[in-house]
This record gives sequence, structure tokens and C-alpha cells, in this order.
Amino acid sequence: MNRLIEKLYLTHSLELDEYENLIAHRNESTIKLLRELAVKIRREIYGNYIYIRGLIEISSYCKNDCLYCGLRRSNFNCQRYRLQPDEILSCVNDGYNLGFRTFVLQGGEDNFFTDEIFGGVVREIKKLYPDCAVTLSIGERSFESYKYLRECGADRYLLRHETADKSHYEKLHPSEMSFDNRIECLKNLRSLGYAVGCGFMVGSPFQNYNNLAHDLKFIEEFKPDMCGIGPFIPHHDTPFKNYPAGNLELTCFLLSVIRIIHPSVLLPATTALGTIANNGRELGILSGANVVMPNLSPVNVRKKYELYDNKICTGEESAQCRNCLNNRMKMIGYEIITDRGDMKKVI
Ligand code: SAM
Ligand code: SF4
Ligand code: FES
Repeated sequence: MNRLIEKLYLTHSLELDEYENLIAHRNESTIKLLRELAVKIRREIYGNYIYIRGLIEISSYCKNDCLYCGLRRSNFNCQRYRLQPDEILSCVNDGYNLGFRTFVLQGGEDNFFTDEIFGGVVREIKKLYPDCAVTLSIGERSFESYKYLRECGADRYLLRHETADKSHYEKLHPSEMSFDNRIECLKNLRSLGYAVGCGFMVGSPFQNYNNLAHDLKFIEEFKPDMCGIGPFIPHHDTPFKNYPAGNLELTCFLLSVIRIIHPSVLLPATTALGTIANNGRELGILSGANVVMPNLSPVNVRKKYELYDNKICTGEESAQCRNCLNNRMKMIGYEIITDRGDMKKVI
């Protein structure tokens, strides 16, 4: 096993079956060793600094029907809302004053947000706050749409691949959604010059270690700028309501492995990780993550953006989350900084 870890550390690459073995045969000592290597690598590149991104949940309307998500169109109990452009700008303004220099506009696939409307919002943010990065996370769109939004000033795009195994993808999504299109979107985004983020849920229904090995291989080959991984958490109004949540220990283990595969990747300790364990985000950072994404959405909509049950930070104001995370990071010896937080190029 230590031979595998040494190979991973030196070459940032393993064969598929080696990734699978690494996961399947993990034990206390390999978990600890990988965590130490991941933290060492992260410290060499990013020091003890943690980047923050202000997450603005712009819409709970979604035309898609992903089987795992509380916002899926077939969930008639979901309370739908969308923020108007001036409300989004007001969240950005609050965030700027709290030290955020990256804003992530995330939402369901909502037809209201045409290129024209959405492009206008992006242009306005970039005009008012030229020192900030704008990240979009609004799902699958056409090449032309991505191109237009990029021209409006969007810097980055988060589109989790969800699973790198096509047959597994088909178990998580209705037949009208396609794995090939998801991957095509990621390639289009990259070709347009976005900093691109992929990612997946840990412990999603039907997932096995072979699927996870494919996810790691995909990350090794695609080399995303960002990689969002967090545990799957069931939502009570979805077809997956009775499936168990993903596991904290495995998520942290995978964060360490991803840090070693791709040393400079921007790796968030996600809200989902903070939901399955009170100290989940801290453990994520201590396993190799270097980003946290506190919520900047208006408090009156937060509960309506319910991807999964018991999501944290739905009652707190933006300033409370900002202070809370500041303290949490300080307690474990890390410091949140005011910075756009671009990926560092490692030679
Ligand atoms: N609609 C866009 C999309 O799907 O890319 C962006 C918003 S979507 C809610 C963001 C991410 O939430 C998804 O990529 C998915 O991985 C995650 N997510 C959805 N349902 C979840 C659940 N039940 N547990 C954990 N994560 C979930
Ligand atoms: Fe819509 Fe995204 Fe949820 Fe799928 S994961 S239903 S695309 S919000
Ligand atoms: Fe929101 Fe702690 S981060 S209350």
C-alpha cells in the first residue's frame, strides 16, 4: 500500500485498479499518511491561507429532474424563488464589504435567466467590482451561451461531472439528461478560457469504489482548476430519500487524494461536509482542502434552496457565517484572506 502512496506522491497518477485498491484497502495508517502528504503539499503552495467564495443562490427553479436533488422539477413541495438582478447585486455589495473577492452565482437551470438577463448581471458586477472574480454555476448551456457569458466577464464555471462513469450517471439522472453532454459542456467551458470546476458527490446511490476510481482518473486527466466534492445527503422529497448519506471519513480521504493528484487545485470544504458533521469543514481543511464557500443569499430565501435535508446556515446572516468561518479556521490554525483566490500555477 505504501508503494502505491509513494507512486501517487511522486507521479500524481495511478492506474484505475490502483486507485480502486487505494480506496478499498484504506486503513488508519494510509488515511493518516495521505492526509499528512496532502497538507504538506497544500501548505507549500497556499500556505495557511484559506480562500473564501461568496455563494449566492440565485434561483430554486429548475427545469431538470436529477433524482438526488431537492430542487428537481418533480418536487412539488419545493418553494420556488428567484432573485432579481438588483437583489443579486445587493448580495454582492454586502459580500464585498465583508471581504469577499469572488462571487459564485449558483442556481437551478431556470429559463428566466436568459443570456441577456444573466449577462447583464455579470457585466454589472464586473463593472462595479473590477477586482473580483465571478464564478457561474448554473448548469448545462450551449457553447454560444457560455461564450456570451464569458464575453460579459464571467471568470470561472462550476459544473460537477457528478460521476465519471456513464452507467452510474444514468442511474442518477432521468434519460433526457446525458453524461456525454455534461462532459462536452466541461470541455467547451475550458476551451472558452473559463477556470473550470468539476466534482462529484461521495456516497451517491449505487456508487462503488470502481466509480470513485473513475472520478479520480477523470480529475487526474482533466486537471480542473476547482474540484467540488461533498457527501450525498438525502432529501425527503426525492426518489433517493431512503438512501444513506455519504460518509465523512471517505470524503476527507478523497480530498487528500485529490490534493496529491493535482497539487494546486482549488478544493472546497463544502457546506454538505459541514452538514453531515459539525466540524466537517474543519476536517476537510485538515485533509487538504483550501477553500470555503459561505452563503451570501438573503436569509429569507435560504431555506428554499434545499438541495438536501438539514442544510446548515439557512438562518444566519451573511456576516454571521463570515465571522463563524473566520473563527472556525482560526481555531485550527488557518487564516481566511481577502483575495480573488485564483489557482496558483505550479512549475
Ligand atoms: N444546477 C446546477 C448544476 O446542477 O450544476 C448548479 C446547482 S446544483 C444544486 C449544485 C450541486 O449540488 C450539484 O452539482 C450536486 O452535486 C449538488 N447536490 C444536489 N443534490 C444534492 C444532494 N442531495 N446531496 C449533496 N449534494 C447535492
Ligand atoms: Fe437542477 Fe442542479 Fe438540482 Fe439537477 S442538481 S435538479 S440541475 S439544481
Ligand atoms: Fe454559517 Fe457557521 S458558517 S453559521
